Amino acid sequence: GAMDKGAYDYFMLKEIHEQPKTIEETFRGRLQNDYSEIVLGGLLNVFPKIEAAKRIVIIGCGTSWHAGLIAEYLFEEYAQVSVEVEYASEFRYRKPVLSSDDVVILISQSGETADTLAALELAKSKGATVLGICNVVGSTLSRETEAGVYTHAGVEIGVASTKAFTAQVTVLTMIALKLAKRKGTISNETYKVLVKELAEIPEKGRAILDDGEKIKAIAEKYHEAVNALYLGRGYLFPVALEGALKLKEISYIHAEGYAAGEMKHGPIALVDNNLPVVVVAPQDDYYEKVVSNIQEVKARKGNVIAIVTEGDKGLKEMVNDVIEIPKSHPAVAPLLAVIPLQLLAYHIALLKGCNVDQPRNLAKSVTVE
Ligand code: G6P
Repeated sequence: GAMDKGAYDYFMLKEIHEQPKTIEETFRGRLQNDYSEIVLGGLLNVFPKIEAAKRIVIIGCGTSWHAGLIAEYLFEEYAQVSVEVEYASEFRYRKPVLSSDDVVILISQSGETADTLAALELAKSKGATVLGICNVVGSTLSRETEAGVYTHAGVEIGVASTKAFTAQVTVLTMIALKLAKRKGTISNETYKVLVKELAEIPEKGRAILDDGEKIKAIAEKYHEAVNALYLGRGYLFPVALEGALKLKEISYIHAEGYAAGEMKHGPIALVDNNLPVVVVAPQDDYYEKVVSNIQEVKARKGNVIAIVTEGDKGLKEMVNDVIEIPKSHPAVAPLLAVIPLQLLAYHIALLKGCNVDQPRNLAKSVTVE
């Protein structure tokens, strides 16, 4: 059950391994007609409002905010709607320009984060349509929003979020594609391809987890690092942020996530032979550019750990360590690429003797400001 660790040493490791199953739970009843159609009952009545929205504002904290950043790329590319992603703690004290033309999506695993709830009330007071993406059934967020989608990841106990994140990204992908379909901004063919790609994630995730032991050996090499840099681009930029956050949260290594193209504007100054640089570098449209970022790091003696597409030979020669992930469409790649980063953080924290499930100073749900 969700409340016992079973064969695992920590809830976090158990929850990482549950992801193929929890993503399936997130689909259940929502990917219909032999996985070719998306049905989101919770949003049925509000879809006309979402279609009419001039802008979608996505709000969250921590890992939920990272899920929102991925959604920004999805909504813009497929549903052709302008998106802003905000930290709840900032949004609640700004003077946001919002009206009934706007749709606000609040993302929260717990549905009880104080800043997110305050942002929700502010958005409501401005007349915006407020929607929730939430894991905890009956939580304040789910009660206070007009409509929403539950992530159905099951109880998450590890303080550092893992399976709730992939469930949030799954829900956001379904919303983006459904919205695109309704608006006619996606071709039938692309829609079908993407729904199928989404449906294939659990199986591909299982393949990554089956091979997960290899990540232990990589953790052995880098667990004494003081700093780490994570790079990614496009859909994988938020994944770099999330990978860095995982490491920071549970191992107390200072880690920064960066858009790979921004490296030259600062982080490159930190590169030396003590700096592990984790680069999310699958074979997508950014591949060549990310490869040249890797060359820049190598030229300064940085240690590169690359997350690559299965069978990538070029990068294997160039970097210190590779972790392979199955080939996928770039729009669903975050759901795969994040898994090795969760495992890397886990194994490093374990080697450092940290309490992985309950890192110091952090809370599962921050219900006070
Ligand atoms: C805390 C947790 C994080 C979580 C964040 C937002 O910082 O430690 O794992 O991402 O709160 O929580 P929420 O429940 O709103 O998603």
